[in-house]
Amino acid sequence: MKAVVLYESRTGNTRRAAEYVAGAVQAAGGEVTIRPVDDPPMDDIANADIVFIGTWVDGAIIAGHRPGGQRNMNTLPGLWDIPVAGFMTYAVYPGKVTGALARYLEKKGASVVLARAFHRKRLPDGIAEFVADALAAAEVNLPSA
Ligand SMILES: Cc1cc2nc3c(=O)[nH]c(=O)nc-3n(C[C@H](O)[C@H](O)[C@H](O)COP(=O)(O)O)c2cc1C
Repeated sequence: MKAVVLYESRTGNTRRAAEYVAGAVQAAGGEVTIRPVDDPPMDDIANADIVFIGTWVDGAIIAGHRPGGQRNMNTLPGLWDIPVAGFMTYAVYPGKVTGALARYLEKKGASVVLARAFHRKRLPDGIAEFVADALAAAEVNLPSA
């Protein structure tokens, strides 16, 4: 099983979350490549069973919550029909932003299997379950134990 983990991170929380995601994929027996979202490994993405994409929660009073770092996120390549799991880190309140991330990634052609948000101070709480649920939802074949 091959996975790619891409992250957009200003202050390191989402990068840390991405590292936990990559660790959980490896613990499940997968091979993983981890990179910033604006430096995507195209060959690895083309051969990936699943791509995890993480960013931070950017809140605006009028516009609501949205995926942070849009300038970098917009450099993402088309992800046609690749199973994608989105994750986000936040400080206080994530709103309904996981839905916004899923819609954003779907516009890139991704087949979004799951999107979840994680409190930056509580990492890695919930990451192992998120990865297990994403692999199951993407019907990724895991090596037998
Ligand atoms: C411009 C801006 C807006 C933010 N808006 C929110 C918000 O609405 N809700 C929230 O819980 N955190 C908000 N945060 C906090 C970040 O989402 C949080 O610190 C995140 O973990 C940062 O990830 P990073 O360290 O990978 O950059 C905001 C941060 C910035 C810079």
